[in-house]
Amino acid sequence: MIVVCPNCKTHYDLQERLVQEPAFIARCTKCLHVFSAYQPVRVGQIGFLNLVEAKQRNALKNVVAISNQKGGVAKTTTCLNLGLSLALNKKRVLLVDFDIQANLTISLGFKATPSFIDLLNSDSQNFELFVRQTQYKNLSLFPSNKNMVMLNKRYFGARNFEFILKDRLLPIEDQYDYILIDTPPSIEFFTLNALTAAHLVVIPSQCDYLSTHGVDQILKLIQLIKAKTNPDINSRILVTMFEKENAASEMIYKKLNKLYPNMSFDTLIEMDARIREAQIMSMPVLAYNPQSVAGRQYLRLAEEILSLKM
Ligand SMILES: Nc1ncnc2c1ncn2[C@@H]1O[C@H](COP(=O)(O)OP(=O)(O)OP(=O)(O)O)[C@@H](O)[C@H]1O
Ligand SMILES: [Mg+2]
Repeated sequence: MIVVCPNCKTHYDLQERLVQEPAFIARCTKCLHVFSAYQPVRVGQIGFLNLVEAKQRNALKNVVAISNQKGGVAKTTTCLNLGLSLALNKKRVLLVDFDIQANLTISLGFKATPSFIDLLNSDSQNFELFVRQTQYKNLSLFPSNKNMVMLNKRYFGARNFEFILKDRLLPIEDQYDYILIDTPPSIEFFTLNALTAAHLVVIPSQCDYLSTHGVDQILKLIQLIKAKTNPDINSRILVTMFEKENAASEMIYKKLNKLYPNMSFDTLIEMDARIREAQIMSMPVLAYNPQSVAGRQYLRLAEEILSLKM
């Protein structure tokens, strides 16, 4: 059972048999914060299709999670534009919006669409019924909506809760060449599920002074996931919103490379006003302006991903 300190976000893996009460008071040994924690709900309530397979199968080779607990680092922008770039390379791409903010869903022009929680509540359990074809060839979306917040309340901490997304992706994995998952700027249910299913985690990181802290946190979480639920997980850092000829950007870029050698993509994504303009139009930047600097960089990133042995 994973308990997260709400103050400093340190994770603890507690043995369930040692926890007697349904709710208990915990104290973080790192920051000394005292908080309420809860026993997981019973696994039967989750309703897996095939829990044994979800736990025993290696990470799904074509699943890429875009993740960083730090907010506003271009996770959603990367998911959208990398997704379209792969689709333009004739790959069948599914984007999974696994963030209650539903920014990815909104960015593609969808509103109030049924989401993963509706799939879990549905009688048919038919994943494909919830998938939307976007206006871009080869690019589909599994949308999010605000009801997804209930997933975290209902299942976070439940036994095996980290496997539910993988469980639902297993039957459809062959229908797509790439499945990209957008995650929120927090850990809990959504990020832990995405990291448990993924073969590769793309870690977008802006070149600001707190970025190395964010990268450090997500790499520690990935180590925990590797030990607990997904031994196959790999990760790469993607520098985003890089400002050319900006001393601070250059300094932090060098620092990232020094701290995490050979862990970054060769491609950098530069700060580009076209990204924000495209967002206002609910479009990926490559559709809004195919010649844009960031658009071409996302195409290059797709080529790098295609060249990885996944
Ligand atoms: N290369 C870029 N150039 C300029 N602006 C960018 C670039 N990439 C992203 N942005 C802008 O930065 C903001 C944050 O991007 P985005 O929503 O993708 O981040 P996020 O990590 O998904 O945020 P959250 O943590 O809230 O989910 C958005 O307004 C987006 O348009
Ligand atoms: Mg986002």
